[in-house]
Parts: sequence; structure tokens; C-alpha cells
Amino acid sequence: MLNITTLNDPAFSPHTLNKYASLMTCANGYMGVRATHEEDYTQQVRGLYLAGLYHCAGRGETNELINLPDVVGIQLEVNGAPFTLLSGETESWQRELDFSDGELRRELIWRSASGARVRITSRRFSSMAQLPLLAMQFTVTALDEDVSLAFSTGIDGTQTNSGRQHLDELSLRVFGQQVLQGAWATQSGDAEVVITSSIQVSQQAEICFTAKNRRLMQNSTLQLKAGDSVTLEKINWIVQRSREILSLESFSRRCLNDLQTSAAMGYDALRNASRAEWHKGWQARRVVVESINQADQVALDFAHYHLAAMTPRHDERTSIAAKGLTGEGYKGHVFWDTEVFLLPYHLLTAPSTARSLLRYRYLNLPGARAKARRNGWHGALFPWESARSGEEETPEFAAINIRTGLRQKIASAQAEHHLVADIAWAVVNYWHATHDEAFMRSEGVSLLTETATFWISRAVEVNGRLELHDVIGPDEYTEHVNNNAFTNYMAWHNVAQALYFVPQFGELQPGFAARADDFLQRLWLPEPDAQGVLAQDDTFMGKPTIDLAKYKAKAGKQTILLDYSRAEVNEMQILKQADVVMLNYMLPERFSTAACLANLAYYEPRTIHDSSLSKAIHGIVSARCGQLADGYRQWRDGTLIDLGDEPHSSDDGIHAAATGAIWLGAVEGFAGLSICNGELHLAPALPVEWQRLCVPICWHGVSLTLDITPEAVTLHSAADVRLWLWGTEIVVQGQQRYSRADFFNAEIGTATREGAE
Ligand code: BGC
Repeated sequence: MLNITTLNDPAFSPHTLNKYASLMTCANGYMGVRATHEEDYTQQVRGLYLAGLYHCAGRGETNELINLPDVVGIQLEVNGAPFTLLSGETESWQRELDFSDGELRRELIWRSASGARVRITSRRFSSMAQLPLLAMQFTVTALDEDVSLAFSTGIDGTQTNSGRQHLDELSLRVFGQQVLQGAWATQSGDAEVVITSSIQVSQQAEICFTAKNRRLMQNSTLQLKAGDSVTLEKINWIVQRSREILSLESFSRRCLNDLQTSAAMGYDALRNASRAEWHKGWQARRVVVESINQADQVALDFAHYHLAAMTPRHDERTSIAAKGLTGEGYKGHVFWDTEVFLLPYHLLTAPSTARSLLRYRYLNLPGARAKARRNGWHGALFPWESARSGEEETPEFAAINIRTGLRQKIASAQAEHHLVADIAWAVVNYWHATHDEAFMRSEGVSLLTETATFWISRAVEVNGRLELHDVIGPDEYTEHVNNNAFTNYMAWHNVAQALYFVPQFGELQPGFAARADDFLQRLWLPEPDAQGVLAQDDTFMGKPTIDLAKYKAKAGKQTILLDYSRAEVNEMQILKQADVVMLNYMLPERFSTAACLANLAYYEPRTIHDSSLSKAIHGIVSARCGQLADGYRQWRDGTLIDLGDEPHSSDDGIHAAATGAIWLGAVEGFAGLSICNGELHLAPALPVEWQRLCVPICWHGVSLTLDITPEAVTLHSAADVRLWLWGTEIVVQGQQRYSRADFFNAEIGTATREGAE
């Protein structure tokens, strides 16, 4: 029994409609369906997305993840009164997302203003077994008296992305008494979508269809006797047509057949098939914690659920959007969030998915090369934000200043280049964790060579040394600086790894070795001060500081920008998010515990954590240094980014990177897992709140489970695995228990991570 937790929506409230619509999204990596209610509410933003289906609507716009026609909406009338929780009385309410299989359930009793009382239960899921399938049931029970009911549901093509229409209607059809089908094309004509829905109500219902105002609807009416129930079952099949294959007509016919085959199975059988798929994932990858805070397991299950739900395992031309498939935030674009915050989870639990995510970058090398060329550099400059094609998708301008009418340029596309090295970092970790030679020989060599070539061409010579000028590091409150430490170290690492790995798996381009060698000799790597503190960039240490307590108390809301302009913030020691500490996290072998502690002490008071990518990283570095209380506090704060009380925190989608960071914090923080010099290191140390932590991982194709208590760690491996435990090299065979006391006894152990004690 896995006892997987659920997520509860505690009460109906117009204020939290969109937050829970994001958090409880039903998704399967292929499609995402926001957890909006069946009935309409003005504030409610419906959302149905297919991973990788983007469109650019016009001048000054970028590609955005298309909000497709809605199928979730069901308008119900009871004795002529529209069902809405804004009128009448809600006598009971329960709503939950079952993480174990992604089923969203609601059960409530509603009394209409005129007194008719009904129980309404609804359930839905998007299938892990058949990706295009979204199944729904909506049941009404007449509790006290006979009632007349009217249902109206279908395929609603009036959806937009905040008012932007992306689709043109191609055809609308009805087959028999219960099947509806619509086809739409993006306005550019590049993609088509076919949605087919089967809607079954009672035999007694009177049914008619309407197609107007972009809506294809089935309308049914029926009488329900007191005590009786009626269930509307709606099975939807949602697919994108790639242009090359079948004609639209043949394709639509195939969709109809697929839909009918599924609909014939019925909701419960479809759910069982999906559940079996989910179950495999839970068994293989679930992290289990015994904590005095029950919310900790919910957070870990939330992360597991969404990491599975957001990842397009079926299509390597698509990567993970910053909000997954849960909303339109960041227009569905892909950032460094994927390689740094999400890919490690896949790498250590399902490496083939990590490979697919890296293939996305590999397949988009042409766009990255073109961007480098356009800017006068060589190699590959990956776009800061990307969609499907690999072109730069960062909007040119941020929000308008409504006083001046001016818009501030977004600088990230021009200068936030560390993503290039982050991708190379992920490639190298992929190799270490998998030893996948075939990947390294093709994709790995290309990615490492092209990224390294970019850095070599990007450097400028100043008094004999090489520097990286006019960059933005991870801290986006500090723009256009020279020698951002994160960027310089990561670029150095990128070039060093290319020089090391490319000759092993491919051929160095003529002259590359000499150029790389020169870069490594001469690139300026900012030096730490006596305590180990690294300056974030050339000018950072000379800037003034201010008390950030008030802004840190509202981390995530960017309230500093209400008091200061961006230009002013740029001239102070204010970090939006982890930067030097991020570097400490990413290259653990380069920085001693003392240096990490010094950087935490220096940068934490200067970091607002206005980005969701920040706290968890400070938490992991703290935990790695043995500061377990701080590590735990920051990990918990990280879990609250989506799961906390703030009603609007996740309106336009969950924070995918923060979700990855929940897993990272447990595994890389408290299980102390790191990849150092290519080897697997474990240095578990639990916070006092945790009595046990169980983590399954995969290393070199071998499944390994870590069962950690405050006193010991029991490792179980399916085959021999060599690794470092608390600084001592061991080979794990079958199941073995290692007592912490033995390792930290000076005579036996050689624990090098002094902070872990
Ligand atoms: C952060 C970036 C991040 C992006 C998408 C921004 O607020 O500063 O680091 O990549 O959000 O999550």
C-alpha cells in the first residue's frame, strides 16, 4: 500500500478558483486541463493545452501555448435555475485531486434559491494510458423532490489566451445522438487540432444540438425523480494533426474511431488503465518521508504528481514550460528551469526522459546557432525563452509603465546567457549518471562543442585576461554586468568539459583544443575573499545595501519594485534569487563547506527570494553544509510557493521549477546526493522534523533505494553500485546498512564533508 496523499481544495471561493485550477490540473505530459469547475464563474480561467502546441498571434507577440477549445464546461439548470455556487446554498463541499492517479473529484450538496436540493458529484482525469483521452463524469442526484434538469455541454471554441484568439474553425460535426467533433487550425496554418467528444446522458433525456457563436453544444433535458441520479459521461479525444500525414477528413475519421473505442470502455475501465500507468511511476519514483509535519509528504507527492504531469515524454521536440501544463504564465515558454530544476529528477529516476529533454536542445541547435551568429558570436546561443522551434521567444518588452506609456525592454534575451552553460552542465551530468555512449557520440559532442565554442567567442580580452562582459547572471535584479561569477565559472566548466569529453566521443574541430585551452588558462574566475565569499560580479561589492526585511517578508511578490525602479535596484546589493549560492549548488566539488557557508552568510540577507527558483537552492546548500534547521525552513518555504495560503500565487500556473526543487531539496539536500567529479556522493543528514526518508534513484541503469534514518542509511541496489557515502568510497551489493556513527568515528571513516556532522 503506497498511501499516496491527496490535495484538498478546502472551500469554494471566487478568490482561489484559479489557484486551485492550476494546482489540481489533470495532466499527463501530453495535455493539461485546468481544474476549473464545470459551471462558469467570471473570474475562472479555463485552460486546455497540448504540450508543444504554440502559436504567435500577431505583431509584437511571441509564440504562446494555445488555450484550446474547452470541453470541461457543463451548464446545469435545476428547475430552470442555473447551478452556481454564487446563489442558493452550499450545504456540503468536498474537492480533491487524487495524486495516485490524477483523478479530480468534487462532491457537494446544493440548494437552489427556490429550494430544490441536489447532490452533485463530478470526476475527471486525463489518461496516462491513452494520452489524447480526457474522461469526465458529472452526476446529479435529486435529494428531496422530483426536479427537471437541463444540461448543456460540448466543445467551446470561444477560449482565448487573455483575449487572443489563435484558432480558426475548420469544421463542426455531430454524429448520431452523442458524438461531437470540431477541427481548428492555427491562424498561421501550421497546426490543426481535432477534438472529438462523446456525451452520454440518460436514455430518457431529450437531446438537441446547437452550433453557434463558436460553440458546438449538446443540450439535454430530463425529469429526475426524488432519490434518483443521472450521470453525464463525457469522453474526449484531443489530438493535433501534423500536416504531412492523413488528410483532415481521414484524420478526423480516425479520431472518431479512437474516441468511440474508448467511450465504449466506459469511465471506470478507462480510469483503471490510466491508474495502472500512474501506479508504475509511483512505485518506481516516489519519495517517502516520515515527518512530524504531514504536509511534507503532501508536498513530495504534489511534486511527484506534477513532475509526471508536466513532462512531455512522448515528444522530444517539446520541453517543459515554466508553468508545466497548468496555465498560461510565461506563455508556456521553456527556460533554464528545465535543465537545472527539472531534469535532475528525471536523470536520477527515468534517464530516458532526461535524454529526451536534452534532445529537445540538440534538435534546436540550428536556432541557437543562428542566434549566436546574429549577435556576432560563434557556436550556439540558446534562446533564453523558447517554445517549439528553438527561436528566441522572450518578449521584447515587459509590462507598460502606464504613467509614461513606455515599456521597459526585457534584457534576458540579450544578456542572460548562462543558460548555455547550464545545458552543458546537464549534458555532463547525464553522462555521469547513465554512461550513455551513443548519446555522447552524437548529441553530447555537438552540444558540448557548440556551447563551448560560444563561450570562447563571447569572451573579451582585457589586459591579457579574458572576461565575460555585459551579462545577466541568475539574479535578474542585477543586469548588464561584467564577470558575473556564476556565468564565468559555469562557462569555464562548460569549456573544460568539452575539452575533456569531445575527444573521447568524437573529434575536436580544428583549432578547438588550442582555443579552449587558451580560454581555460585566461578566463578570469573571480577569486573569493579570505572567508570564501565570491563577488557576484565586478561592481557588486561596491554598491550600497539597504534593509530588505520588509521585502523578504513578502518574497515572491517583487514588492521592491513598488518602491524602487529596476534601474535603482540594479545599483544596490539586492538579489532577486540565488546567484553565487546557485553556483555553490551547481558545482559542489569546487567549493568547500566553509566557502559555501561564507557565501550563504553574505548573500542570504541580500536575497529577497522574489523568484521561485531561489529559496530551495539556499536550502540545499545550507543542508549540504550541515545547517539542517535553515535547510529545512527554506525547503518548507519552497513548498509553500504553490501550496501556501496566498490565494493568487499560482493563478496562471504552478511554478514548475519550484516543484522540481521540492524533490531536489529532499534528495540533494537531506539525502545529500550530489554528483562530484563524475561520481555519486551521498551524505544523508535529516532535519530533526524527519524520522525517515526513502528515496529511489537510478544510477548507471541500476535501481538503488536509500532508506535514511537519523542513525543510519540502508542502501539497496539491484546490482553492484560504487559510490561515496559520507566521504568514503563503498560498493553497494544487495541490501546493506551503514551506521552513521561508524562513518563519523575517526578511525573508520574519512568523512570529508565536515558540515554533515
Ligand atoms: C526567474 C528566472 C526563471 C523564470 C521562469 C524568473 O522570474 O528569475 O530565473 O527562469 O522566472 O521561471
